[in-house]
Amino acid sequence: TPAEPLEEKGQVAPYICQRRTPLLHHNSALTDALEIMAEEAKFSGSEVRSLAFSRAASVLKALPWKVERIQQLHTVPCIGEHSRRILQEMLEDGMSAEVEKVRQSERYRTMKLFTKIFGIGVKIASQWYQEGLRTLTDLQLHQIKLNKEQQAGLLHYEDLNTPVELWEAEAISQVVRQVIEQILPGATVTLTGGFRRGKPCGHDVDLLISHPSEGEEMGLLPKVISILDRQGFLLYHSFHRSSFLSLEDEELWVSGGSSTMDHFERCLSIFHLGDPAGSRPGATGVQKLGALWGLARRPVPESCAWVDLVVTPSSQFPFALLGWTGSRNFERDLRRFSKREKKMTLNSHGLYHLEQKIFLPAASEEEIFQHLGLEYILPEERNA
Ligand code: CTP
Ligand code: MN
Ligand code: MN
Repeated sequence: TPAEPLEEKGQVAPYICQRRTPLLHHNSALTDALEIMAEEAKFSGSEVRSLAFSRAASVLKALPWKVERIQQLHTVPCIGEHSRRILQEMLEDGMSAEVEKVRQSERYRTMKLFTKIFGIGVKIASQWYQEGLRTLTDLQLHQIKLNKEQQAGLLHYEDLNTPVELWEAEAISQVVRQVIEQILPGATVTLTGGFRRGKPCGHDVDLLISHPSEGEEMGLLPKVISILDRQGFLLYHSFHRSSFLSLEDEELWVSGGSSTMDHFERCLSIFHLGDPAGSRPGATGVQKLGALWGLARRPVPESCAWVDLVVTPSSQFPFALLGWTGSRNFERDLRRFSKREKKMTLNSHGLYHLEQKIFLPAASEEEIFQHLGLEYILPEERNA
């Protein structure tokens, strides 16, 4: 069926945070192609080009109709020359030679392999590539120096790159909830990240921990980690102390204030998702997770998953929730919109009006959108 002319379908807003972007949309073949180009640009160190492809992909995800002809994109924003060329190829020939060339290239494949090791970014990966390394075995043979996080990432490479399913994320949330309930009754554990956006699987589990009365959450995380560790749940963990000085420090909001780096107390861990049949006798943690196994639809092999545990004081909770729900593209534009259109700095700790020099407190995500003069976008509609 030929698509209707665009005028009949409404205009598309320029910022991602002004649009509703569902998980399932009508243009995946096109967005997959653009996302490969975005990834390739990132691998070549061109952040700007990568963002351009990524923004073009995002806008196509928000269209409530399937693009059939390039002319239909005439009034759609955020589609640059290069993206347009690739889309035209895709629409006319069903594939893009340029994208295929990237997909097949040794550099792209190797960069993808290396950057999938947790803690390995583009810089290190391309260094390895230039040194002639091509496989994970090459890394071992050349006795490449890795930090603890990267070692853990390499050791569990297969498991950690197998998507975490929703029921696993829920089982892990439940375990953390039970442990926390013993230490600090009333504390809350919220599943954020991709799962909150309705994704059926993800690359990790993002958990936000808080307590309704401000300050109660202090000192909680080290205790939680030590119990989880003792119970055999953790294959690896690294604790990051809260690096926050004071929200009142204006410099923080004027300079790097809207960076995605936040200052919460945090623990990055690898959770063991074992087989409760007991392949590892004595692993009480595994058995406990097994008790929650009602959530599983089929037998679980030995596996593990990255879990991000983040602690926030209750006054910052809505900001942390908004910041950790993602998607990364949605967050980036939300912060860009705040700064450019509203002269406000938004991050996972708060919202600051740069001209009035005041904080805008919020008790919910909805209130943050209101402060920004934006229509509320549901988590399920933030899949940009
Ligand atoms: N995030 C953050 N600070 C970090 C790491 C992540 O604020 N140090 C935020 C990101 O901006 C993102 C959210 O946490 O919005 C989730 O990040 P991530 O787990 O990487 O992505 P997901 O969207 O959850 O995707 P996936 O399902 O693949 O995990
Ligand atoms: Mn995640
Ligand atoms: Mn994460």
